[in-house]
Amino acid sequence: MNYSFLGDAKTVAVVCNQWGDTGKGKIIDFLTPWADIVARGTGGANAGHTVCYGGKVFVSHLLPSSIFHDRDGKMSIIGSGVAFDPRQCIDELRIVHSGGCTSDHLRISRHSKLVLPQHILLDQLSGVQSGSDAIGTTGRGIGPAYADYYNRCSLFVGDLFHRDTFAKKLRLNLEEKIVRLRTYDRLLVKQICSQPRVGGEAYFHPESILDQETIVEEYTGSFANQLRDYVTDTREIMHSALGKKRILLEGAQGYLLSIDYGSYPYVTSSDCSIEGLAKGVGLSARNVDRTFGVVKAFYMTRVGKGAFPTEFGGSASDEHCARMNREKETEQYGGVTVNDPDPLRQGIAIRLQGDEYGATTGRPRRVGWLDLPLLRQSLRVNGNDIILTKLDVLDECDEIQICTAYRYAGEQFFFGRDTIKSGEIFQTVFPENSFLKSCEPIYQSFPGWLCPTNNAQTYGDLPSNMRAIIEFIERETGAVVRMVSVGPDREQTVIR
Ligand code: GDP
Ligand code: IMO
Ligand code: MG
Repeated sequence: MNYSFLGDAKTVAVVCNQWGDTGKGKIIDFLTPWADIVARGTGGANAGHTVCYGGKVFVSHLLPSSIFHDRDGKMSIIGSGVAFDPRQCIDELRIVHSGGCTSDHLRISRHSKLVLPQHILLDQLSGVQSGSDAIGTTGRGIGPAYADYYNRCSLFVGDLFHRDTFAKKLRLNLEEKIVRLRTYDRLLVKQICSQPRVGGEAYFHPESILDQETIVEEYTGSFANQLRDYVTDTREIMHSALGKKRILLEGAQGYLLSIDYGSYPYVTSSDCSIEGLAKGVGLSARNVDRTFGVVKAFYMTRVGKGAFPTEFGGSASDEHCARMNREKETEQYGGVTVNDPDPLRQGIAIRLQGDEYGATTGRPRRVGWLDLPLLRQSLRVNGNDIILTKLDVLDECDEIQICTAYRYAGEQFFFGRDTIKSGEIFQTVFPENSFLKSCEPIYQSFPGWLCPTNNAQTYGDLPSNMRAIIEFIERETGAVVRMVSVGPDREQTVIR
């Protein structure tokens, strides 16, 4: 593969400019042969990154997608910004090893924040308690684990190797949580505890809710032993490598899910922009020579709750997705086409065609047209270099719509000094959920290309109707499309 398009860049980052699941895993897998080190710095097992090669499909949650290149000497790093669940890591390593891959070059930061059983328990309990107001988290304990960090009561990977410190910190960490956990229905607590990812009932205690001794025993015993050889101060590795080795940073989630820039409160709990990613591996964003923002096109997706102005079928789609799964949808809607005149059904067809079901939870991903007002926001922080993915999914679409602006359709909205009135047009808006939900998309329509694209090798091989839309997006947003992905396999990648 020719990586000359990276020029003399030494540190390159891949982030997502949307609500996640844009194909970061595939792009990281494609770029890993170029790199010496690949590092993750945000999120945890809420991520689901898919890598396809040689007819096989792998999904990594916590491990960097580069792990499949370990045998080639590529170092994979889990940085200090990651919410690290040791049980999940050990399970993933088992899968990687059983597939014939090695993990000799994996390094885990001793400063990564530990995800513990109480975090998963609280995450899932608050999801149940919030009912229809729930954020729709992945239930992996991410929010509660980061909340502890900011509350200054986290346990870290390094604590796994100091039994007394771990036990003391765990006791302090659990003090207030146990009081809260006692207020929930005991049967529900027991049921969540019985999930294998929370320890398969081993930690449940009818009185104290969580059996601290058993947790200490397993985490500082079996887990510590299995992870010991991987744990180190990864910030040192990154700093010594900076400017000397080729470093690739693997983003998780997406800009619109960032706690700082996204559609709060329907976001994740880390900053998944380039800034959070660089910091999460122990670097600064100014150390990054090139940042690529991945953009699913010309449709986009979202899992979980929150405003989604261009969603096919609007709120009916959101409700539909909440009660569906891949099997039911395939069975009931197998015959729908991507040109169905009913937007809800058109969305279902695109979901089926693009296999848009969560790589972590299996939930149907909500589907809508590409939204340029939101893309303009992410370019402000992640920069103008973008990678378009999944273009092949729309090969049979007669007409493509691109949202170029919004018309505000809500009540008068007092920002402070400014008042926004119904009918006002916006080229971009900060994705504040309460505002975004009253924005109506204004579309520009384009003819489809109506031919297969997944064998394209060069930009010139792509149909002219597709290139016309790509170039329209560049003119409208200032983005520069550097790569185009036309299939899940690493070979199906076009460099511009
Ligand atoms: P990530 O979280 O950003 O790594 O993305 P996911 O792995 O969650 O979801 C992307 C899905 O799209 C995966 O199933 C990939 O195999 C698949 N994929 C990636 N790029 C392409 C592409 O260009 N075309 C098609 N058809 N599928 C793709
Ligand atoms: P990758 O890296 C898509 C979403 C969840 C939910 C919200 C909060 O595969 O792109 P959390 O469990 O993080 O507290 O959930 O964020 N979410 C993702 N959506 N892709 C992801 O990761 C996501 N990680 C979290 O669906 O709406
Ligand atoms: Mg994903």
